[in-house]
Amino acid sequence: MRSITAFNHDWIFYPGFDADKAGTRQEGQAVTLPHSAVELPFAYFDEKSYWQAFTYQKTLTADPAFDGKEVSLVFDGAMADSVVYLNGQEIGRHPDGYTPFEVRLTGLLTPGDNLLTVKVDGSENPAIPPFGARIDYLTYAGIYRDVWLKVTDPVSIENAKIETPEALSENKRVTVSVTLANPQKIAIAGSLTASLIDRDGVELGKSTVEVTGETAHIELTDLTNITLWDLHQPALYELVLTLEVSGSHDAQRIRFGFRDIAFTTEGFRLNGRLIKLRGLNRHQSFPYIGYALGRAAQEGDADILKHELKLNMVRTSHYPQSKCFLDRCDEIGLLVFEEIPGWQHIGDKAWQAASVENVRQMIRRDWNHPSIVLWGVRINESKDNHDFYVETNRVARSLDTTRPTTGVRCITDSELLEDVYSMNDFILGMEEINPDQPRTPLRPQQKVTGLDHAVPYMITEFNGHMYPTKAYDQEQRQAEHVIRHLDVLNAAYGDPQIAGALGWCAFDYNTHKDFGAGDRICHHGVMDMFREPKFAAFAYASQCEPEEGVILKPVTFWTRGERNFGGVLPLIILTNCDEVELVSGGMPPRRFTPDRERFAHLPHPPVIIKREDYPNQEFGHWGMGWQNVTCIGYIGGKKVAEVQYVADPVATTLQVKPDTVNIGAEDSVRVMVRVLDQVGNKLPFLFEPVSIAIDGPADLIGPSLVSLNGGSTGFWLQARGRGAIAASVTHARLGTVRVSLSASAGGGA
Ligand code: GAL
Repeated sequence: MRSITAFNHDWIFYPGFDADKAGTRQEGQAVTLPHSAVELPFAYFDEKSYWQAFTYQKTLTADPAFDGKEVSLVFDGAMADSVVYLNGQEIGRHPDGYTPFEVRLTGLLTPGDNLLTVKVDGSENPAIPPFGARIDYLTYAGIYRDVWLKVTDPVSIENAKIETPEALSENKRVTVSVTLANPQKIAIAGSLTASLIDRDGVELGKSTVEVTGETAHIELTDLTNITLWDLHQPALYELVLTLEVSGSHDAQRIRFGFRDIAFTTEGFRLNGRLIKLRGLNRHQSFPYIGYALGRAAQEGDADILKHELKLNMVRTSHYPQSKCFLDRCDEIGLLVFEEIPGWQHIGDKAWQAASVENVRQMIRRDWNHPSIVLWGVRINESKDNHDFYVETNRVARSLDTTRPTTGVRCITDSELLEDVYSMNDFILGMEEINPDQPRTPLRPQQKVTGLDHAVPYMITEFNGHMYPTKAYDQEQRQAEHVIRHLDVLNAAYGDPQIAGALGWCAFDYNTHKDFGAGDRICHHGVMDMFREPKFAAFAYASQCEPEEGVILKPVTFWTRGERNFGGVLPLIILTNCDEVELVSGGMPPRRFTPDRERFAHLPHPPVIIKREDYPNQEFGHWGMGWQNVTCIGYIGGKKVAEVQYVADPVATTLQVKPDTVNIGAEDSVRVMVRVLDQVGNKLPFLFEPVSIAIDGPADLIGPSLVSLNGGSTGFWLQARGRGAIAASVTHARLGTVRVSLSASAGGGA
């Protein structure tokens, strides 16, 4: 029987590593995983501080129950180069920061206490992808994902690939390819049973096969009443595999979905339906501790992308991301394009072999996620390299015939070895440096591919460094930021040969000195590092149908003196309403409709109120007496949304808002802090400090004294057990706000 238990507690950590001391327990800091080896400031730090080795140690007491069993440790991810020692002896290594690895302990444990020592080297070792040249993101260091203690019988299920061929036919089928772990090389004889369970626990089918070797194939046929996995109804099923062989017993529950995908020259189809992909790129980093946030924060990001930004796709730029993130994408119906680690640089043959291994590990880890619809098997934006990419494609296709491959380019006329040509099209903005280049949002596909025929094609990045925009930048710049995202989305919607467009990027991220604003931040997100939206976030959100949420977001801080020439016109209102009314001062209310001319292809073009709409300068101009304004959204003549602005905003309310107040005993939670005016709008240019104090079983991640960054800041709390937690935030003018949370075994999940 299998037991998998979390192995995250009671680690000792210290910077540095000495192989001679790997067998002796050292003094260090007590830590819990996930853990970041170095806590960084928010900005302006030296990223070289984590380019070194670190040591993690933990005692593992041999349990008599291990006798006759296979015992191992599973590391979900440690950055960047790990070596594992047991009682001073090296027993495993893994030179990759993004894929999981397993270290076998069977036969090596001595009775009583055993010392595990893990050397984790965060150096940017040029032998390990993505390293070897400059990269525009940080990789951090440490055991930043979970570790598990795995105990099984001598023969166990190593992996299983579940496929749903012909998912659109009436009677459905599931095929399962199972590999067994049999390190003791026992002669295998027995059976494997697969049973299909729906969300109510009802068994829908069952099949048993005889097993005589380390692989087995099993099929369930004639399945009826199956709901397809789709964006709005991401139906999931479980396959329960039960193995009985040669005295070993094992069982695993694996979640999957039935769905059909196709990338064609006319776009992307999900379950036969054309869907324009609308998404953003995600880096998995957070302020201060980089990658080291667990399940709740990973799920939180997926929820933000799906429910707040209303996207239908995310790209895991530029590496395999947490399985918790992918699990959540499965649960909420968010499509995923997952890719191997890398950024522009291709190393030597050994480096390339490591990258091919990354392809293998990524696919073998993630092939049962219905949300994943594309494997990225090129190093992001690298040059062509025939042999290398023939091999990455070959390996991907040999492992998984159900998903297309792609590879992200920024070059044109690249050799197409993948199923889908993916392009980072940064043409918009080029007109600023090349006067011969007219302003254009996207190039036609064949201009990019250089081919004389159409191929499956998508846009995987745009904007980003072409128009970096801070959350507290001038309103006018933010309006242009919005327009650029809208222009590209509009062009993608208007070209049937483009499967969709993923913008750069969802969240601001810490980066190397060579990139970003010099503050070690790339301000390229439509949200900041705390996932607080900039205006451009609503360029995406407003494309959803009103049933998924009514969006009404004027791109203004409603001030007279924030823009060049003053006033707020032209005023873009991002909305999926069909009419917007402005009510201000003594003026008669006026209604406006979306600009379907300029943005003919967008599902929901914005309303744009122009200077010409108010020829007498009676609204939104410099020079007029500044008035309060109300903006009302209508659908089918019915009022569905309203936003208000005051002419004289003052700091009125300190808002402290956790994402949830009931969390799991091991979970983190994000808490947003905002200073609001009289009608609840954030004060966008407030930079005053707030102090944060925590009571109860939780750690504050990051400093306890921080500045608001344009009216808001945030922090994550990490629960350390069960109990009542209070977070108190103090602002000199507005006093202290205290919020109560509770951490419990069942909370949060
Ligand atoms: C791309 C790259 C991204 C990011 C972006 C900034 O070239 O793929 O990782 O650096 O530029 O716009």
